[in-house]
Amino acid sequence: MSDVIVPLFITAREYEGHVQLLATDYDAALFEKHRAVIAALSLYPVIDMDRDAAVRCFPAARVGMESHRILGIDPARSRHGYDMAAGFNGFLRSVFSLPSSSSAGRRNNKPRLVMVLRSHSRVLTNEAEAVAALTEVGFEVVVAGEGDVSDMARFAETVNSCDVMVGVHGAGLTNMVFLPRNATLVQVIPWGAMKWPCWYDFGEPATGMGLRYVEYEVTAEETTLKDKYPRDHPVFADPLSIHSKGQVWEYFLQGQNVTLDIPRFREAMHQVYLSITTE
Ligand SMILES: *[C@@H]1O[C@H](CO)[C@@H](O)[C@H](O)[C@H]1NC(C)=O
Ligand SMILES: *[C@@H]1O[C@H](CO)[C@@H](O)[C@H](O)[C@H]1NC(C)=O
Repeated sequence: MSDVIVPLFITAREYEGHVQLLATDYDAALFEKHRAVIAALSLYPVIDMDRDAAVRCFPAARVGMESHRILGIDPARSRHGYDMAAGFNGFLRSVFSLPSSSSAGRRNNKPRLVMVLRSHSRVLTNEAEAVAALTEVGFEVVVAGEGDVSDMARFAETVNSCDVMVGVHGAGLTNMVFLPRNATLVQVIPWGAMKWPCWYDFGEPATGMGLRYVEYEVTAEETTLKDKYPRDHPVFADPLSIHSKGQVWEYFLQGQNVTLDIPRFREAMHQVYLSITTE
């Protein structure tokens, strides 16, 4: 979504479909997954250049894609002034026939929350308790595992019906592009001085899409790293030293799961509940 689809939107949208896409290192699975989006950008089948023997002539060509930042568009740099909220998200809503209305229209019902789960790293070890707490707070909870995310059209519709998305930092949060305007993204930030990188990857993009953004930073008590390292280990005593050694992936992204402190999480989510039900 961030590396290919947003840049492709910035680069190709202006042709309103009258553009032939040619790909190197063609990845059939990627194009299949994003078939609806690609079809909305180009009226023609994508050409796999590495296997294409034809000589093709075009009046003009653009080589490469334009990219501004992770999951974002800088309107000042976009020739047509595209932005994320109205531009890209609006485009996705039209591709998947999603209502453009904000979540405010559903105020009479319980607020819906989609919980994005991970299954290999940064796993929520007490997800059942977390879901129970969210239900107690008053949300109608939809749980989305990695398998659900693979059927994009269906998942887009599910996400679009929600007021809140919650998940531990990771690629699944990219699905916030399908949230309605003014919905809230709650990013659970894993242990390890990860606030800034997490803000850069999803926090700032969320605000750029007109979403509200809430952080839940896990404490040293809520990471499984505590079972592996003593408190005087640099993992706890000096997490930034792990950053400067280039070991963030190994220790803080691959190396931990998260066990939420349920009362603390419930209180944080109660605040989110209040912010969307009493305004
Ligand atoms: C978003 O929320 C703000 C503040 O609650 C409100 O003023 C605004 O109209 C909402 N926008 C949409 C698109 O619902
Ligand atoms: C996190 O949990 C997953 C699923 O239970 C497990 O496979 C993985 O080894 C765990 N990782 C760590 C670092 O504990």
